Amino acid sequence: NIELAGALSDYRPHLIGGFADENVNELLYLDLEQEGAIAVIPLADQLKVEQNLPIAPTVLPSPTEVNYPDIPDGELLGYLHRATEIKQGGDWKAKDNTVKSTEIDQQLEDKYNFPFCDKVSTATNPIDWGELTKSGNAPKACLDTILKRRSTRAYSAANLTLEELKALLDFTYQPQHYIEQGLDGTPDYFDLSLIETFIAVSGVNDLEEGCYYYAPKAQELRQIRFKNFRKELHFLCLGQDLGRDARAVVFHTADLQKAVARLGDRAYRYLHMDAGHLGQRLNLAAIYLGLGVSGIGGFFDDQVNEVLGIPVDEAVVYITTLGRPRTRL
Ligand SMILES: Cc1cc2nc3c(=O)[nH]c(=O)nc-3n(C[C@H](O)[C@H](O)[C@H](O)COP(=O)(O)O)c2cc1C
Repeated sequence: NIELAGALSDYRPHLIGGFADENVNELLYLDLEQEGAIAVIPLADQLKVEQNLPIAPTVLPSPTEVNYPDIPDGELLGYLHRATEIKQGGDWKAKDNTVKSTEIDQQLEDKYNFPFCDKVSTATNPIDWGELTKSGNAPKACLDTILKRRSTRAYSAANLTLEELKALLDFTYQPQHYIEQGLDGTPDYFDLSLIETFIAVSGVNDLEEGCYYYAPKAQELRQIRFKNFRKELHFLCLGQDLGRDARAVVFHTADLQKAVARLGDRAYRYLHMDAGHLGQRLNLAAIYLGLGVSGIGGFFDDQVNEVLGIPVDEAVVYITTLGRPRTRL
């Protein structure tokens, strides 16, 4: 939301994931037992030339811990957060430790290609967000959608169309198509090269049921499984009807081993926030198009890969369900 609202108000949010945790928390008078900063986002005033900052990597690595103490139930999250802190005056400035932008950008091809799989192009016209605001900097409908969006609580039995799915993917993964509409074509993420996208399709007109890998660079869906997964999705989403009734379920995944090797244990923070950022773009586009959408964080981590054919290296970090909202009679 900050990313899109920034475009509307001529402020460019710069995402910073690498910061001295203790100092930032102290500055904010946070009760460390209860809270800790997870991101710092300076807003650069685009109308001031000196604040037009170059795009730069936003992450720094933290140490990686391999010897864990016994952690009582309910304390794991707090422990993980503290264990992934960057210490003031630490060695994060050391040359070998800084994450180079080339390392992040080096992937020129999509991670997965399956030589003989069916491929469906997702190239499409960008979503038309309509009129710009009076000051003319970005579409007003974007702001209205941020303000009115809600997570859908139940889906109808009606299918999505392939055009709708393409539009949602275009807005989420191809921000460069929205520069002409005043939106940021290269919004900051922590490290998108660590995030992959899989989609289980069970009700999209003109698209075969099954599980697909979404290749954002090639802009195509690559089919990895051929069946209707509705029953399995219901189970995988802990019996939640949203999982069963959605017409398409998007899985954001990450290779944890690779992420930790690059960014230390702090990667776990970055991955979830990046997946959430993508999920929110899906969410806003779906609401704008009159579709239904809800995130799902509750799912069986240990079974989701095998059932859907998602490669074992990929850990699912966030799910977004899509469909048509059920309207009350
Ligand atoms: C990370 C995340 C995980 C979520 N997981 C679930 C879920 O498992 N089941 C569900 O019904 N809703 C889930 N939601 C939707 C939330 O219930 C919903 O976002 C929240 O109630 C706030 O409502 P709003 O999105 O309409 O503002 C999730 C949302 C997020 C952001």
